[in-house]
Amino acid sequence: MKLLKKYYQIAAVGLMTAVMISACGSDPNSPGVEYMPDMYRSPAIEAYVDYNYPDSSTVRQAPENSIHRGYKPYAYPNTNEGYEMAGEDLSNPLDLNEKTLEEGKVLYTSFCAHCHGKKGKGEGSITNAIYGAVPSYADETPNRRGNRSMSELKEGHIYHTIMYGLNAMGPHSSLIRENDRWKIVAYVQTLQGKDPLSNTSEESTEEDAMAMNAADSTNTNEITE
Ligand code: HEC
Repeated sequence: MKLLKKYYQIAAVGLMTAVMISACGSDPNSPGVEYMPDMYRSPAIEAYVDYNYPDSSTVRQAPENSIHRGYKPYAYPNTNEGYEMAGEDLSNPLDLNEKTLEEGKVLYTSFCAHCHGKKGKGEGSITNAIYGAVPSYADETPNRRGNRSMSELKEGHIYHTIMYGLNAMGPHSSLIRENDRWKIVAYVQTLQGKDPLSNTSEESTEEDAMAMNAADSTNTNEITE
C-alpha cells in the first residue's frame, strides 16, 4: 500500500515536470504555452508599448503650452511688477459672507497663525530668529516692497503673497486651493481692520454715489421731457 502511494507521488512529480518543461520553448522570447491568451493579449493600445509612432511611444508628449487638468495658471510673475499688477487687478471672486469669513479664519489659523499670530500682529508661536520680522497686518509703517504699509495692502497683494511667499515666508500656492486662498485673504483683511463684507472702499462709494446722481439726473430729464 505504502509502495503504491510512493509510485503515485513519483508519477505526479514526473507529470508536473513534463508539463513545466513543455511550457518552455527554444525561443527565449516566447511566453510558452499560454492559458487563455486573450486574457493577456488585449486588442487595446497599452501604455509604454512601442507601436511605431514617430516618437515611439504610446505615452504621447503633451503639446507645448498645454495645461494639465485642474490647474489654473496664475498670470502674475513673482516680481515687484507682478505684485503691483496683482494688487491693481485682482479682487476677491467669492461671494463673501459670515460663513466664508469663518472658514477663512479656520484656514488662517492652520496656515498662517503660527508665524503671523492669531490676531495678525506678527506674534506667532514660531520664535526662530529668521521669522523674527513678521510684520503686523495693521502696521502703518511701509513694508519692504512697494513702499506701502501692511494695512494698505489690497486683496490682490495679499493673494499674491500667498501664491509666492516673500523672503522667509514660503509660497503657499501648492498647499491651499484657490477658493481657500481667497477666504484667507478676506480674513486677513479683517485683521487689517477692514470689513471685507462691506466690499466698498471709500473711494468707490464716492464714485458710485456720483454715478448714481448722474443716472438720477438723466432719469429726471427723461421724465420731464
Ligand atoms: C513661516 C512663517 C510664515 C507663514 C507660515 C506665513 N507667513 Fe506671511 N510673512 C512671513 C514673514 C517673515 C513676512 C515678512 C517678509 C518680508 O517682509 O521679508 C511675511 C509677510 C506677509 C505679508 C506681507 C507681504 C508684503 O507684501 O509685504 C502678507 C500679506 C502675508 N505674509 C500673508 C500671509 C498669509 C495669508 C499666510 C498664510 C496663508 C502667511 N503669510 C503665512 C512669515 C510667514
